[in-house]
Amino acid sequence: MSVLALRADKLEEWRLSAVGWVRYRANFADAAVPSARRMVELSGARPGQRALDLACGVGVPAHQLAEALGPDGYVLGLDIAEGMVDGARAWAAATGLDTVDFRVVPSERDLGVEPGTFDIGTCRAGLQYMVEPGAALRAMREALRPGGRMVAMTVGSPQRCTSLRILEEVVARHITMPALIPEPDKDVPGTVALSDPADLEALYRDAGFTDVRTEVADHPIVGADTAEQYWDVCEQSAGPFILLLRSLGDDLRAAIRSDAIATLRAEFGGGPVVMTGETLITVGTR
Ligand SMILES: C[S@@+](CC[C@H](N)C(=O)[O-])C[C@H]1O[C@@H](n2cnc3c(N)ncnc32)[C@H](O)[C@@H]1O
Repeated sequence: MSVLALRADKLEEWRLSAVGWVRYRANFADAAVPSARRMVELSGARPGQRALDLACGVGVPAHQLAEALGPDGYVLGLDIAEGMVDGARAWAAATGLDTVDFRVVPSERDLGVEPGTFDIGTCRAGLQYMVEPGAALRAMREALRPGGRMVAMTVGSPQRCTSLRILEEVVARHITMPALIPEPDKDVPGTVALSDPADLEALYRDAGFTDVRTEVADHPIVGADTAEQYWDVCEQSAGPFILLLRSLGDDLRAAIRSDAIATLRAEFGGGPVVMTGETLITVGTR
């Protein structure tokens, strides 16, 4: 498949997912706080600086960056999916934050910003889904001033990613399907594409970043008040999964849902669900 066709395919998944991400913003945004704050710490953010956040989704870590940069700072969030950008704008308007802007970009290599005009670049849970993550890092580097820092987070070890593991286990009990957790391959965009620090760091160095290092830590990824709500979040916000479930009949979908809820209740003792996962946070300097 050509780069353009693959990117169009991925965009379609994100368009579908955006509806769920906007509806369940709090489920993602609240769980993201510790890792987003850590990204901001590693960026060395100081009041008054300018940050560029690629794959901004519905505004994480733009929110945490805006807090750290203060009233004289500025955050520009970019995303390929219009629904995500609309969600991020709606969140900013609702919270009265006027130091953030959000824009749609046509691709990860075409950011539409002046070279050398940002102090910080971030990309949380975005690079691994891009068809050309190396080009994205080169574009981000060009947007930074000399000495500016780039901080990206990706999903680490697939085995440590509870949300994927539970989805896979449950769905595989009902249908035969391609693995939701494939062997990580840096050349195949997807949740675990960049789960090896060596791959991520090589992309940084190839893009021209120096002082490249990675922090590996477990962090919450997504949460829900109940098992039922968690399943609704998955059904409406996980791109490939949305398509898979839609392709099934009502009875099969209902059977998978009740199995998932029983499995989640057993794992989380009937209380709130918090999915954690290993994350890689990689930092480099222009
Ligand atoms: C898992 S979400 C993460 C969103 C947000 N950064 C967060 O941490 O909650 C991935 C985001 O990457 C965006 N995305 C995927 N491919 C992209 C690309 N090629 N260029 C820009 N954004 C992209 C999606 O639209 C989606 O908003």
